[in-house]
Amino acid sequence: MTLEMRNIYKSFGANDVLRDIDFSVKAGEICALLGENGAGKSTLMNILGGIIPADSGSMHLDGKPVQFRTPAESLDAGIAFIHQELNLVNDLAIFENMFIGRELKTKAGFLDAKQMCGRCQEVFKRMDVDLDPRTMVRELDASYKQIVEIARALLMEASIIIMDEPTTSLTDPEIDRVFDMMRTLQSQGVAIVFISHKLREVMAVCSRYTVLRDGAMVAQGDVADTDVDQLARHMVGHEVRTESLRRERELGREVLRAENLSQGRRFQGISFSVRAGEVLGFTGLLGDGRSELFQAVFGSGGRYEGQVYVEGQPVTVRGTPQAVELGIGYVPRDRKENGIIKDMDILENGSIVTWPRKAKLGLIDWKAVREGFRSQAESLKIKMAGEEELIGSLSGGNQQKVVLAKWLNAGPKVLIFDNPTQGVDVGAKEDIYDTILDLAGQGVAVVVLSSEAQEIIRLCDRTLVLYHGRIQGELSGEEITDQKIMHLATGAT
Ligand SMILES: Nc1ncnc2c1ncn2[C@@H]1O[C@H](COP(=O)(O)OP(=O)(O)OP(=O)(O)O)[C@@H](O)[C@H]1O
Ligand SMILES: [Mg+2]
Repeated sequence: MTLEMRNIYKSFGANDVLRDIDFSVKAGEICALLGENGAGKSTLMNILGGIIPADSGSMHLDGKPVQFRTPAESLDAGIAFIHQELNLVNDLAIFENMFIGRELKTKAGFLDAKQMCGRCQEVFKRMDVDLDPRTMVRELDASYKQIVEIARALLMEASIIIMDEPTTSLTDPEIDRVFDMMRTLQSQGVAIVFISHKLREVMAVCSRYTVLRDGAMVAQGDVADTDVDQLARHMVGHEVRTESLRRERELGREVLRAENLSQGRRFQGISFSVRAGEVLGFTGLLGDGRSELFQAVFGSGGRYEGQVYVEGQPVTVRGTPQAVELGIGYVPRDRKENGIIKDMDILENGSIVTWPRKAKLGLIDWKAVREGFRSQAESLKIKMAGEEELIGSLSGGNQQKVVLAKWLNAGPKVLIFDNPTQGVDVGAKEDIYDTILDLAGQGVAVVVLSSEAQEIIRLCDRTLVLYHGRIQGELSGEEITDQKIMHLATGAT
């Protein structure tokens, strides 16, 4: 099937988000849709997916004009959409989610759970993932949720699949698996639109690319004729750095120390310490336990054994207000689930942890809150119409920046970043790295949790590599390389 979108225009209020966009994708093609945060990628795909209407322009499938007024109409036309923001119902099982709205029934008209589970299992087998379709979605880690979303698109046997940043919470081996699936689908004549900020991935799996900048189409071509640097230049309009950012820094006193932390099978015997001005990495593959470890340290992950010390004092964090008090900040992974509050506006989301501190006689000093947020928003270059808009009106990458702003404002002594550049474009990534290194330069102890080896290599002075909840090894300075990380992350010593 060939899809063509012509002369697409879309505005939100005074914000012209798409201007005269032509976009097409053919059967057997994997087309990258690229652009900075807020460039209009998700909006364009939301129009294709029947979620929002275009202001003007037309769409054609195999030359025939089409119009999608609802997501169901788009789906019926063979278009499956894997959203940037996860779209599963937590209180349903995996198989129920995968068949939502198109449940299989027995002859007698009852739900046929057995057949639905069987079909799910077939798809999981093709994807080479080990998941029980009867598991409740609530119990899944975000990366497995992502896998379920991809599986659902496969199950629908769509002829066009839109993947809006499907790999942000996946680790390298899982990404490879998803890519294998994409290539298989491609060879079967499926057309795929792939949105990603990871340009290496784009080079690895895509055949064509389209770049949007500020709502306009700025470049298009074959992936074979381009490279990562050129794509980055198209996206941001100037050169992007890629070198290591590690610098010699004066390290201060020890700020955070953990002794022998264990929690069931999630993590065992973890000891480490971070000093003021140091950037310490934690990396590993899915199931390595690093997120669970820091959720526990931050008081949002249940009880654990062992002891945590902040500036030499034993502490047990029981919740965010206490953490803020102690000077511990924590930017969680998966802002969709943990980082943002959907019903609040941008300013509220970007400042909530500092409210207690900025309150006088129980009343929040909004002027101070606003000033604090504005200065962070400016340095992080958050793209928004106004801070009183709902957080949901921001593009994915800009939501991530709001979550960062919130914690930068809290002025912590130790700041833990879990997957800090998830969904952030190549230029903004540099801004966030600069921000992190500035913090370290000011004497904040920084912990960076990441599955992206390049992120660890470029940012960290030292990194611990976890394997199944244990520290498998430590690397520092020049020692931190792709190969050494992968070696340890896969359980070698
Ligand atoms: N529902 C909405 N209401 C108001 N403005 C919106 C809405 N959805 C998107 N926008 C605005 O449209 C612009 C484009 O957003 P879009 O989500 O398409 O960006 P994107 O290219 O997908 O970025 P990212 O890489 O960060 O996901 C942004 O300025 C955003 O604030
Ligand atoms: Mg988007």
